[in-house]
Amino acid sequence: SLHTVTTLPTERQPGCPFDPPAELIEARGHGPISRYTHPGGKPGWMITGYDLVRSVLADPRFSSRKELLNVVDFEIPPAPPGEFLLMDEPQHGRYRKPLVGKFTARRMRLLTERIEQITNDCLDAMEATGPSADLVTAFAKPIPTIIICELLGVPYEDRASFQEQIDKFMNGETGDEELLAAYTATQDYLAKLVAAKRANPTDDVLSELTDSDLTDEELQGISLILLAAGFDTTANMLALGAFALLQDPEQLAALHADPALVDQAVEELLRYLSVAKSFMRTALEDVEVGGQTIEAGTTVVLSYNTANRDPERYADPHELDLRRDSGGHLAFGHGIHLCLGAQLARVEMRVAFSALLGRFPTLRLAVPAEDVAVRPETADIHGVKSLPVTWDV
Ligand code: HEM
Repeated sequence: SLHTVTTLPTERQPGCPFDPPAELIEARGHGPISRYTHPGGKPGWMITGYDLVRSVLADPRFSSRKELLNVVDFEIPPAPPGEFLLMDEPQHGRYRKPLVGKFTARRMRLLTERIEQITNDCLDAMEATGPSADLVTAFAKPIPTIIICELLGVPYEDRASFQEQIDKFMNGETGDEELLAAYTATQDYLAKLVAAKRANPTDDVLSELTDSDLTDEELQGISLILLAAGFDTTANMLALGAFALLQDPEQLAALHADPALVDQAVEELLRYLSVAKSFMRTALEDVEVGGQTIEAGTTVVLSYNTANRDPERYADPHELDLRRDSGGHLAFGHGIHLCLGAQLARVEMRVAFSALLGRFPTLRLAVPAEDVAVRPETADIHGVKSLPVTWDV
């Protein structure tokens, strides 16, 4: 009979900070698709099999539109102008297209030197205050924040307060009232930033976009999506990735012995950790998926992290194996919404992990692994709240 995933846990199971919730691994064991009730009470589906997740992502009969989400009892408003992550074609493409050329692998490689500089500045500061640090605040957060601020052209003097606000509305722990305040503050700031770029274009992506037919409101939405999608994801990959490596002496030694392994290591860490855990799609018509009929208007959860641990796709899926071929993983999604910042994120991770391990070859956790505070399952992006580390001097 068809498996049902009931309530998902609000915390990861103790001792398994890198694994998807046991309920989802178990569901995959029963088959690639399960019945599921959304936390808001609406009936839906949970897809945990690699092939099925990938096929839904490639299927235009499934929508990303925010207002179609059928998960709660009240109506959800459509995504604001510019927030194309939650739109379908043709609106999605109208926003995505002018951005694609600004995020190519070539353009991102040109950024490498700048990323190296930023990383080295962070590591210098760590070294100066060491031999211990919180890797989240000293390394994982500042690198992607500075990069995204430079891409958007956020002036240096605004960065600290700006970073604080976006951190608040993305850490999955801020209370409702404070969350709304942080969100509003970020929106207000972005409105001012767009107006400033329009008046005085500088050398950044946002200024370049003022040259298109996009309105200020649309540019504000695009900026918010770039921030929301680009900062928290990369920061958590860096911190959780460092944690996973420090917890696995054999894999860590392999990377030390062969620094050229870093490209492959980054792909495997993406697969293994899948910090962007899941996304939803809503059926526009009745669609058969894995032998089940998903009725028009029903919202499915696509569990990217469980799909990336599918034993039919990856042998020994719960093993971190930097030498394996992790190609085809779904950590950046698939289809029209495939992560726009994938190449940027890859460069950031390659540079940051290499520099970190090169600079601190004796890096290790400063607390027992079970004392590392992991984000709650309710956070959209998985990660650690802090990562105390130390090293020999
Ligand atoms: C979309 C993951 C870094 C910008 C996505 C999606 C995933 C993802 C899974 C697809 C969502 C869906 O299927 O609906 C990640 C991970 C990152 C990362 C794991 C870091 C390791 C970045 C960065 C940027 C960025 C650095 C930008 C600077 C975007 C945008 C979209 C997106 C704009 C929406 C694309 C669209 O709707 O067409 N990302 N991302 N991401 N990401 Fe990333």
